[in-house]
Amino acid sequence: MANVVVVGSQWGDEGKGKIVDWLSERADVVVRFQGGHNAGHTLVIDGVSYKLSLLPSGVVRPGKLSVIGNGVVFDPHAFVAELARLEELGVRVTPDCLKIAENTALILSLHRELDGYREDAASNSGTKIGTTRRGIGPAYEDKVGRRAIRVMDLANLDTLPAKIDRLLTHHNALRRGLGHPEVGGDAILNELSSVADRILPFADRTWKILDERRRAGERILFEGAQGTLLDIDHGTYPFVTSSNTVAGQAASGSGLGPGAIGYVLGITKAYTTRVGEGPFPTEDTGEIGEFLGTRGHEFGVVTGRKRRCGWFDAVLVRQAVSVNGINGIALTKLDVLDGLAEIKVCTGYRLDGETIDYLPASQGAQARVEPIYETLEGWQETTRGARSWSELPAQAVKYVRYIEELIGAPVALLSTSPERDDTILVTDPFHD
Ligand code: IMP
Repeated sequence: MANVVVVGSQWGDEGKGKIVDWLSERADVVVRFQGGHNAGHTLVIDGVSYKLSLLPSGVVRPGKLSVIGNGVVFDPHAFVAELARLEELGVRVTPDCLKIAENTALILSLHRELDGYREDAASNSGTKIGTTRRGIGPAYEDKVGRRAIRVMDLANLDTLPAKIDRLLTHHNALRRGLGHPEVGGDAILNELSSVADRILPFADRTWKILDERRRAGERILFEGAQGTLLDIDHGTYPFVTSSNTVAGQAASGSGLGPGAIGYVLGITKAYTTRVGEGPFPTEDTGEIGEFLGTRGHEFGVVTGRKRRCGWFDAVLVRQAVSVNGINGIALTKLDVLDGLAEIKVCTGYRLDGETIDYLPASQGAQARVEPIYETLEGWQETTRGARSWSELPAQAVKYVRYIEELIGAPVALLSTSPERDDTILVTDPFHD
């Protein structure tokens, strides 16, 4: 039996929510291991729609243990607000069913503010990233800079002022430089004291709990956020998020060894989208991009921003298969392509007169690559709601087989609508 890591193989928004929910029904423990409340997905269970940003998907399923791992950056106010929203829908999240790693770095209001100040300042200089403005990047900077306030620090309020002073020496210099008022230590202390009692009951040694659960043979699902092309090392740097989004991070971001990971499932959309700034070789700003965006309802769950759209880019996904060690993919939103006369797939790039089969690392080269397309005949029948291969039109099967061949990974799951049962199972990741 394998523990499963789910990662996005493109720029996020591949439809992880439905697949993670589908898998979480089969899991005992669901773990977030990177990112924060910049993620967002909607789960529809028995007709009720739950929007989650920070909490692992397991929280809406009774009897599952959910874990926020140490690799996450944790906004206590966003956490309290998300708990309240769930409670309104009848879901009570208690410390019995949710554990937060005590060594998790916190996102404070000054991180959120700094994120916004920088994005505003960058708007005029062309260096804007298009972040979610949730303070994710600044919080990771403080973690790596060894000055973060962490969850367990809330248990020792009397030791906090010294830590806050150290943090403010850094932040107030940045704020002055950007022309914004300084923050006082008392304001941060109040901010932290006001949430400490709500957070501390959930704090625990999650590395130990996870190891015990693993040894007991329980099934662990690691729920990735964002996507491989947003990874701080392997993505389209600097237009990326500030964490490692690849499967390897499931180990260090949870405190389990890499041997605990059995199967890596890459969620892959049948075309490509991205939000925020940065290179996007197959972006289509014309009719096809508009068609994919409208048919695929391509708007961000967290920020509501319109997503940029284009044809499937096999170069990027092939690279994602490699850097994550993807064993199989879950292909989503195939039905969005229904009815098109022809469908294009990017199979390589042209860069400065040469043909290449990978995404170059340099920012300049990433912006210059031009996609090379193969054109396939489309299908006129609907694939929506199909629950077996035999229900799929021959051309749709051909498209799926072509993608498998190009990316070097098989389809393990095929999702044919947002409904959880509209899923074709080829390989159960937990039983590989
Ligand atoms: P940050 O994670 O807020 O710092 O944003 C950095 C980049 O990652 C921006 O381009 C965001 O649009 C993108 N991003 C962050 N979270 C998500 C997500 O869940 N889906 C898609 N893009 C995301």
